[in-house]
Amino acid sequence: MKVAVLGTGGREHAFVWKLMQDLPEEDVFLLPGNAGVNCSYPIDVSDFKALEQFCCEQGVGLIIVGPEAPLAEGIVDYFRKTDIKIFGPSQEATQLESSKIWAKQFMERHGVATAGFWSFERIEDAYPCVASLEGNLVVKYDGLAGGKGVTVCSSTQEAHTALKQLQDKYGNEVPFLIEERLEGEEVSVIGFTDGKSFSALLPAQDHKRALEGDCGPNTGGMGAFCPASFCDERLLSHIDATIIQPTLKGIAAEGLDYKGVIYFGVMMTPLGPRLLEYNTRFGDPEAEILLPALQTSFLEVVQACLEQRLSAMPIAMHPGYFVDVVLTSDGYPGDYTTGKPIVGLEQLDSETLVFHAGTRWEGESLVTAGGRVLNIVCKGDTLEQAIDKVYRECSKIHFEGMTYRKDIAHKGLRIPACNA
Ligand code: AMP
Ligand code: GLY
Repeated sequence: MKVAVLGTGGREHAFVWKLMQDLPEEDVFLLPGNAGVNCSYPIDVSDFKALEQFCCEQGVGLIIVGPEAPLAEGIVDYFRKTDIKIFGPSQEATQLESSKIWAKQFMERHGVATAGFWSFERIEDAYPCVASLEGNLVVKYDGLAGGKGVTVCSSTQEAHTALKQLQDKYGNEVPFLIEERLEGEEVSVIGFTDGKSFSALLPAQDHKRALEGDCGPNTGGMGAFCPASFCDERLLSHIDATIIQPTLKGIAAEGLDYKGVIYFGVMMTPLGPRLLEYNTRFGDPEAEILLPALQTSFLEVVQACLEQRLSAMPIAMHPGYFVDVVLTSDGYPGDYTTGKPIVGLEQLDSETLVFHAGTRWEGESLVTAGGRVLNIVCKGDTLEQAIDKVYRECSKIHFEGMTYRKDIAHKGLRIPACNA
């Protein structure tokens, strides 16, 4: 079976690395690709016809979609009408991620535990709601916004500024949500679904803010670790009962075509776990730790989902802890420069994994080409060991302006298991 992975980032590099444990290199394609992956082909994946033609020419029988944009554009619906299999939710089911209003209404219809919300079509209609919540709220643009559509506010002033920014960007007529602001630790519960059952991977934690101590602006992710042991069995079963099972029932009741990865972004509040968001694909950087932690064949799980026999497929995870530190260009997520030569990768231990996010080749030398440049992933028997190891490895790498958070996974050492 030849497989094409769609995407460009560290997440898709991790997919390819994992698939190559089951398949020869020449049977795996990354489209349009990544400088860390030899089998990259510069195909425009938003042109479904051109993609189909490429797959037919190369004998690709299965497509695995990394990012959300092609899902929201209906790539799964397109390929369902061909002989090429595709792993991911349909366009309708992808609304769980691509429309926050649709997702909240789905949660409401199916009794999924989440924050209270109000939806609006015009900016001016939201001011009474802001006043009644005294600014303790979250403003969320309805559509995909590359992680930039959410503003968490703590005062009326901040909420007004968030509304003003939304208005400046999209105009007065814009679909958006106001949500009650919750407090608590966050955990990513990610797993596979065939539309009938769900198989969870390990609970993981992303680090979205640019600076240590969860300060500074939001980024695409500065690092991640798993398992996030503070999300213990008891809490996981609470999340299953109040969030995951109602979601699965909803997917089945509404007849959504969902054979893919589902991501539950959960906040553990004093009142119990609450769902903040769905993603209809693997998280990035969570994929870079969860795929190395997955012992079972990725290809076999994907096939089990497509054939709707996931409940009969045991999923095994490796013991131990996995930590990913993202090396970034100085200035990210704001302006940064690229083209800086990257040195030291040849000095890394053979067990260390390197997933490229923003690199390119300039002749023989690898240089930076993005804000997030490399994911460095290490495993340890304990979380302490994994953290020590990953930072020792990061110190062997250098490029001008290289920056990274020094506290990735430290919360995993500090936070006791939460009570559900
Ligand atoms: P979302 O894309 O909806 O997950 O939001 C992005 C981030 O905003 C989350 O990871 C949280 O840190 C924060 N956030 C979202 N919704 C809420 C909420 N209701 N209360 C507090 N923080 C939130
Ligand atoms: N790690 C969060 C995301 O991929 O959206």
